[in-house]
Amino acid sequence: MSDIDRRRFLANGWKLGAGLIAAAGVWTSWDLLQPRLASGFGGVVRSVPADTVPEDSVLEVPAARAYLTKIDGEVVALSETCTHLGCKVPYCASSGQFECPCHGSVFNRAGDYLAGPAPRGLDHYPTTIVDGVVEIDTGETVAGGPPGTMTVDEPAKGPACEGGHGG
Ligand code: FES
Repeated sequence: MSDIDRRRFLANGWKLGAGLIAAAGVWTSWDLLQPRLASGFGGVVRSVPADTVPEDSVLEVPAARAYLTKIDGEVVALSETCTHLGCKVPYCASSGQFECPCHGSVFNRAGDYLAGPAPRGLDHYPTTIVDGVVEIDTGETVAGGPPGTMTVDEPAKGPACEGGHGG
């Protein structure tokens, strides 16, 4: 390789390297600026097929810290966090109600307030059905209704759970 060829080769190599670095920078910037669909709690949680959500009970979705149920055929996502002081509220299968183990607040299957020191019903999360699957937006909380709100008329199905443990 002559001196001139080597110089030309090195000059072109330098331009190629600089071009690759610039392309990598553009790609990184573009990638960082893309909107992200957050997943996991605090974002959108893709959960279960809508047709598996029960009408007469609830289905826990731990990743969303929520329960799914259907009210008048519509999927509803309820926060599992008690609106009193934030304990996790289990669903009691025998009573068909949520019973907070901390201070005894009780909510019906729709999350309506029934009893105890909680100031309102269980909070909700917006849901969307995408390709038949329920997506729960845990980044947005809709406050539960005030005491007296009755979305469903469902008296206790049976005995309460001892100590608030679901069963
Ligand atoms: S935290 Fe549920 S009743 Fe107090």
